[in-house]
Amino acid sequence: MIRAEGEEPLRIPSGALKGEPMWWRDAVIYQVYLRSFNDADGDGVGDLDGLRARLDHLTSLGVDGIWLNPCYPSPGADHGYDVADYTDIDARYGGLPAFDRLLADAHDHGLKVFMDLVPNHCSVEHPWFRQALAGDPAARERFVFRPGRGDEPPNNWQSVFGGPAWTRVDDQWYLHSFDPGQPDFNWRNPEVGDYFEDVLRFWFDRGVDGFRIDVVHMLFKHPDLPDWPHHPEYNILAQNQPEVHEVLRRWRKLADAHGRTLVGEIWVPTVGDLALYLRPDELQQAFYFDLLVCPWDAARFRASIDRGLEEIVSTGAVITWTLANHDVHRTVSRFGLVTRTGGPDTRPRGVVDVELGVRRARAAAMLVLALPGSVYLYQGEEIGLPEVLDLPDEARQDPTWFRSGGTEHGRDGCRVPLPWTAEGPSFGFSSAEETWLPQPSWFGEFAIEDQIEQDGSTWRLHRDALLARPGFQGPLEWLPTGREDVLAFRRGSMVCVTVFGDEPYRAGRGVPVLASEDAPPGTVAGGSTAWFHE
Ligand code: GLC
Repeated sequence: MIRAEGEEPLRIPSGALKGEPMWWRDAVIYQVYLRSFNDADGDGVGDLDGLRARLDHLTSLGVDGIWLNPCYPSPGADHGYDVADYTDIDARYGGLPAFDRLLADAHDHGLKVFMDLVPNHCSVEHPWFRQALAGDPAARERFVFRPGRGDEPPNNWQSVFGGPAWTRVDDQWYLHSFDPGQPDFNWRNPEVGDYFEDVLRFWFDRGVDGFRIDVVHMLFKHPDLPDWPHHPEYNILAQNQPEVHEVLRRWRKLADAHGRTLVGEIWVPTVGDLALYLRPDELQQAFYFDLLVCPWDAARFRASIDRGLEEIVSTGAVITWTLANHDVHRTVSRFGLVTRTGGPDTRPRGVVDVELGVRRARAAAMLVLALPGSVYLYQGEEIGLPEVLDLPDEARQDPTWFRSGGTEHGRDGCRVPLPWTAEGPSFGFSSAEETWLPQPSWFGEFAIEDQIEQDGSTWRLHRDALLARPGFQGPLEWLPTGREDVLAFRRGSMVCVTVFGDEPYRAGRGVPVLASEDAPPGTVAGGSTAWFHE
């Protein structure tokens, strides 16, 4: 650790600590995929006491808060995104007492805590759905039950995980946009909206600082549920319906009354569509996935950043940058892809050069941390962890893998438990040898505790970047670079230069502040970012 034995943990001053009402506008939030962060009880699955034991890691890194993936009771059809009880915590993670301990300790550390709200669907084990399955017509009204067309489902919609979006129970079928274990709610039934307001109140009263909201754009479907004639991935009849904005206005009122923050997971066709969810009386934040799907290319990055500035920042809202999460290939493996053979933009398949990927991921992190707005980091990004691309098939757990008949590997490779130490059982993640997803033998090379001690490590780069980042203030002004593969911008007195190509770049004036790679004075190395103070 970077503090001496017996010393107080290092505290990084931030808006969050000062209790500023708009602290989230430039906050850095660390996403904790709980199952894979740290395991205290030795069952090979991460838990809340495990997270609590490692809070110093997060404060010394310098983040303002954490977003916890769902940890409610759940049968685990989609690792917690199938919620059986929205006002409790799964016993495997330590139950409500462990959650209260975590919340209190996190607050003592000056960290905000966001939970994950899953309002589009629940679990088949949720009491409402059990009643619906038992045939109660009022309970069925809370979900989307329809008669089939003969032996065929009510329409041709496909689930995001593959296969039909409908499962038959008797003469009726229910809609599940994801796994059959995740029945979609009927948001046209007012009982559903009232229920979720109670859920938000429950957690706000308990002290939770905000929510990341799962697939916000999917709550409402086209009222007639017509067939979708085009590629299932772009089914706009199953999402982005205007009624969703009214729900967000209700939630925003509630959040404002409690001084809390809401960040949406919203995959919509254009940045203009996204901006609508960020109107002043809707969500404070929504992830900017437009940049997340960009390959390592200066022109693509610049165009995406400009789109965000023009269509979001110009409205007074902020951009919430993110390069990774628990659903996409890790940045190292996306940016290190030298030959692409297939897969979606979020999880491209092909040949990866890990060394190159780490280099570019470091440069990308520094670029994003210099931009105006807030940044979400996914656990493992701070150590340049690559995707585990070769998990054994028998270890895979993502429903995408099963529902695509093994053609889509899915998301397990970015969810492998973190390596804390270079040696030892499960690299310090757990006292168990076996973890819920197996760790590859090379994981120890990325050990967090080693990187904390090493000059120039990716962990130290992130820590130093978070310390220096407040120097970037105000609007972004692009600077000419004379090279197509180099982007440079100024914000206030700080300048950020990113070289996408391999050739070093002769930087102009300015005092060097931080660089993702060493380079001779006055230059920025190929595949790197450097910050200067003018
Ligand atoms: C979101 C989550 C993802 C989950 C899905 C269904 O996209 O990020 O992990 O599988 O929603 O809840």
